[in-house]
Amino acid sequence: MSEFYNAEMSAKQERMARTRDMVRQRSELMQALSPKRGECILELGSGNGVFTRELVDCVCSDGHVNGLDSSKAIIEMARHICPDGEFVLGDAQDLPFENATFDAIVAAQLFCFLNDVDLALKEAFRVLKPGGRIVILDTDWDTLIWRNSDPDLMERMLDAYKAVYADAYLPRTLPERLMQSGFANVAAGSFVVLNTSFADDTYARQSAEFAVSIMNGSPQFSTAEQESWLQDQERLDRDGGFFFSLNRYILTAVK
Ligand SMILES: C[S@@+](CC[C@H](N)C(=O)[O-])C[C@H]1O[C@@H](n2cnc3c(N)ncnc32)[C@H](O)[C@@H]1O
Repeated sequence: MSEFYNAEMSAKQERMARTRDMVRQRSELMQALSPKRGECILELGSGNGVFTRELVDCVCSDGHVNGLDSSKAIIEMARHICPDGEFVLGDAQDLPFENATFDAIVAAQLFCFLNDVDLALKEAFRVLKPGGRIVILDTDWDTLIWRNSDPDLMERMLDAYKAVYADAYLPRTLPERLMQSGFANVAAGSFVVLNTSFADDTYARQSAEFAVSIMNGSPQFSTAEQESWLQDQERLDRDGGFFFSLNRYILTAVK
């Protein structure tokens, strides 16, 4: 077994991928992308490879799916989860593919991390065939409603959370940027991730785990604050007052 891959990490990703919010997200993406048998598809920021695996099923053996990710460990896990995909270690801002290679490109929750979104769009345009489609899913964190009993602590936590992204408000500028990069038929859709429970199978729970890890690694938050933030979420859930709502946006366009 390699130094990166381990079965526990992969099992956790599979569990997360089966949660209803992630299932819904992949279904929305699939509908927007509409992959067809025989197509060549590139997934940018392919992560754990679960969506790549679904794409492989859609294009069948006469098609081809490439996943590209900048993390060696994640690429390795994706190769285990999706053995029929072809995964490449790389940067979405500098694609290692020939011009006009793909029928479609898809990226979920990747562009918000990129320092140069316009360069990545230019690269995507270059490697798409004429008439090829691009589908980008991203989040605008201004759309978040997350109930809590300590607004000051919540605001500080969210500032630290959003700082993880290069642009936590990307979707609002994407239609214009897609057009400026040469794409046509630019369209935007959205759906809401809405959790009124803090159960393990919710996106809110995943976000809370991420929030706790961010607070844990930051000297701005005391241990007492981390604990009280999480306890507040648990208490709201017990009392029937839990509420988390966040918009996802899906941008589609054609070369
Ligand atoms: C939030 S995850 C999303 C993964 C997957 N698309 C999903 O929706 O589950 C973002 C992924 O983008 C990758 N990533 C970040 N910067 C990248 C870059 N410049 N080029 C390619 N991948 C990148 C990360 O390693 C990570 O796997």
